Amino acid sequence: MGYQRKKIALIGGGQIGQNLAMLAAMKELGDIVILDVPDYVNPVKGKALDLMEMAPHGNYDADIAGTGDYKDIEGADVVIITAGKPRVAGMTREDLLSTNIAIIKTVAEGIKQYAPKAFCVVLTNPLDAVVYAFYKLTGFPKNQVVGMAGTLDTARWRSFIAMELGVSVSDVAGTVLGGHGPDMVPLPRLTTVGGVPLTDIATQEQIDKLVHRTREAGTEIVKYFGKGSAFFSPAWSAIIMAESFLKDKKRVLPGAAFCEGEYGINGLFIGVPVMIGAKGVERIFEIKLTDEENAMLQKTAGVVKATVAETKL
Ligand code: APR
Repeated sequence: MGYQRKKIALIGGGQIGQNLAMLAAMKELGDIVILDVPDYVNPVKGKALDLMEMAPHGNYDADIAGTGDYKDIEGADVVIITAGKPRVAGMTREDLLSTNIAIIKTVAEGIKQYAPKAFCVVLTNPLDAVVYAFYKLTGFPKNQVVGMAGTLDTARWRSFIAMELGVSVSDVAGTVLGGHGPDMVPLPRLTTVGGVPLTDIATQEQIDKLVHRTREAGTEIVKYFGKGSAFFSPAWSAIIMAESFLKDKKRVLPGAAFCEGEYGINGLFIGVPVMIGAKGVERIFEIKLTDEENAMLQKTAGVVKATVAETKL
C-alpha cells in the first residue's frame, strides 16, 4: 500500500502465468496481480503467496496477489493474457480456436473495463487469431496490443542454431516472421553468429533441419508433455516485451502486430519485427524480403487469415 510501482496484471495463472509472475518479480517490474477463473482463484492466491515468501531470496520488493475479480487489475500498466486452454498431444493450435475465443471475450471485457490504458501482450493460442479477436473486442488502438509468438519462435531458432553449431547462444542473432504455426518463416539469410552469416557456416542440410525443428518446436514439447504446452520460454519471451514497454527500452523483437499494408498484409496480426517502447508497438520494421521469403510470408498470412475468418469478428 502506498507504493508507486508499476502494475502488471496476468490474466491466467496456469503454467505460463505462474512463470510470468516469477519472472516479473525477479526482474522487479512492479506489483503483480494474477487473475484466474473462480475454480482456480485459490491456486493463484497460493502461487502469489508462495512468490511473496520467495522475495527474501529473490531479493525483490513487490506486492503479489491472486484474484478472481477484474477490479483488482484496475490501473494495470501491462496486462499479459494466457487465459485459455493449451494444446494436448495430437492437437493443432487451430483446434483451440472456439474454446479460446469464447474465453477471450470475457477477458477482453474485463480488461476494457478496468485497464483500458494497459499495454496488452497476448499469448493464448491460436495466437494470431486470438490477438486479432482481442483487438477487435476491446477496440484498443493497435499500438496497445501485441501477440507474443515471434519472440518465442526466434528464441527457439537461436537456441537450435547454438545447439547445432556448438556456439554461444548469445552470439546468435536472427528473426522469425509470420504466423505462429508450422508455416512460420525463419530467415536464415539474415541470421548471424557473431556477425558471421549463418549461410556461410552451416550446410543447407543443417539449415533445413533447423528451420523444420523451429517450425515444429511447440509440437515437439507438447509430445513430451502429452497434456499441455511449453511454458518457460513463452513466459520469458512475453516478459521481455513487457519490460521493453515498462522501461521504454525500444527493443526490436518479432511480435504479432496489426499490419496495415506492411509486407503487403492488410488487417491482420502477424509476426513482424516491432519496436516496443513506452507507447507500445511504436514501429513495424519492414525487411526487404527475397521473392521466396515473401512467398512464404504470404502463405502464412493466408493461413492466419483463414483462421481469423472463422472467428467471425
Ligand atoms: N479468465 C481467466 N483465466 C482463465 C479463463 C478465463 N476466462 N479461462 C481459463 N483461464 C485460466 C485457466 O484456469 C488456467 O489457469 O488460464 C490458465 C491457463 O493455464 P494452463 O492451462 O496451464 O495453460 P498455459 O500452458 O499457461 O497456456 C496458456 O497460452 O501458449 C498458450 O496454447 C497456450 O492457449 C494456451 C495459453
